[in-house]
Amino acid sequence: MRGTTAFPVLTAEEAAELIPHGAMVAFSGFTPAGSAKAVPQALARRARQLHDEGTPFQIRVLTGASTGASLDDALAEVNAISWRAPYQSSSLLRKQINEGRVAFVDMHLSHLPQSVLFGFFGKVDVAVIEATEVTPDGRVYLTTSVGASPTFLQVADKVIFEVNRRQARRISDMADITIPKPPPYRNALDLDHPLQRIGKNYARVDPEKIVGIVETDRPDELGGFTPSDETSRAIAEHVVRFLLDELAAHRIPMEFLPLQSGVGNVANAVLEGLGDNPDIPDFLMYTEVFQSAAFKLMQRGRLRGASTCALTLSPGEMREFVSQLDFFAPRIVLRPQEISNNPAVVRQLGVIAMNTALEFDLFGHVNSTHVCGSTIMNGVGGSGDFARNAYLSIFMCPSIAKDGKISTVVPMCTHVDQNEHSVQVLVTEQGLADLRGLAPEERATRIISQCAHPMYRDYLYRYVRDAGSAHIPHDLSRCFELHQNLLQHGSMLPAATPRRAAC
Ligand code: COA
Repeated sequence: MRGTTAFPVLTAEEAAELIPHGAMVAFSGFTPAGSAKAVPQALARRARQLHDEGTPFQIRVLTGASTGASLDDALAEVNAISWRAPYQSSSLLRKQINEGRVAFVDMHLSHLPQSVLFGFFGKVDVAVIEATEVTPDGRVYLTTSVGASPTFLQVADKVIFEVNRRQARRISDMADITIPKPPPYRNALDLDHPLQRIGKNYARVDPEKIVGIVETDRPDELGGFTPSDETSRAIAEHVVRFLLDELAAHRIPMEFLPLQSGVGNVANAVLEGLGDNPDIPDFLMYTEVFQSAAFKLMQRGRLRGASTCALTLSPGEMREFVSQLDFFAPRIVLRPQEISNNPAVVRQLGVIAMNTALEFDLFGHVNSTHVCGSTIMNGVGGSGDFARNAYLSIFMCPSIAKDGKISTVVPMCTHVDQNEHSVQVLVTEQGLADLRGLAPEERATRIISQCAHPMYRDYLYRYVRDAGSAHIPHDLSRCFELHQNLLQHGSMLPAATPRRAAC
């Protein structure tokens, strides 16, 4: 920890005292990787104490994306968050957002740094950033994620560091940090390979802004993945078959294209499926999270390299990763989210984007965020950064949820995160609908026959037939009938017997 002694060493409690009620606080973290841990927990204890005394205490919280339990969960538990952006996945915070108690701004993750830089959300009072080292001249070596920390360090009035001895100092050798110049003087990013480096392995801070260093020794708070099940394996098989057919038809070049893979178990299973198929060539990733399946594929030599924003690995995997750093370091580039998710680079590299939906409709719109149009799950995350600009944009999900009470294929999405123009392929365990070149009515027929669960197909065919003729046939009096049934009767088709997904 050379250098860090140049700054006052504080306890987490002392650091928390420096954050006033109403402050905008920007924390490091992109997923639980590299998320601030000690200071937010101390803040939560302080909030509880102040609330017990009848004193209000809430802060506005910015991060790169989701966080570990010590941040969103701990602060939500004591009602200490009044406003939050840009993404979250905490069940407690989700509840408070859905009850209207926390204002939540759901946004594309690549947009966040520029929005913060230009003050779209007002001024950032304090940044709390996890690092392995901070030098007296203001070089900051980040840990397992880069996220939006370089920008937070630039704009915050005051900066507190959590210097984490548990995190390997050499992880920051993988970082490639640059903040693009503001428009209209921004240069094109010189990135024509996922592993190309265009920046420095450290972020910069004005040392005058550093109010203290908190020393910690805590691992990232990541759970493991549940093993892939029959449904996610079936989805993976359809995706693999499709990509092999595209290769055979020369619509994907023989050296393959870089992959982006979204969050969650389905995305993990698809990546596993791709790695297991010997006919898929060894590949590269240009993606926002490097999670379990990618880690294992890289160890096996199937994944040749990855550009990512975060190392989202379980503590066990992280120990293994660190013990093999000589192997991993040259194969991974850790970038700020503005670059890892940069739409121009995604278009330039020809990325194949694979993300997960909650529901999609008969014409190809995708809802990844809001149940019945109202209740948020997590947020749009980086899916739109990739989907809109991908060479091929694939969305996947099981055909039914909640034991069949919900069809994920619906006449009209109740909320649209990706519109029909950004979606080319839809996949469920039932099959895959390639929508390229199809007019809306053809899309509907393809989506029902390939993706809908058999118990919902008759209803969906009837819906299209009865909607009459139009470019996009819709019956506005019935387009949300399935959702209304769900809200009123607890099932989209109350008369049908719910059952588990069948392939
Ligand atoms: N209506 C209501 N609930 C639904 C539903 C629907 N249409 N589809 C799924 N669900 C429920 C499931 O039953 C499950 O509920 P549970 O937690 O009570 O078991 C929950 O939603 C999650 O579904 P699951 O199938 O386990 O999906 P997942 O873990 O793969 O997550 C998303 C799916 C869409 C929530 C997740 O991928 C996400 O947040 N995506 C948006 C952000 C994103 O794409 N980021 C990646 C960019 S790189």
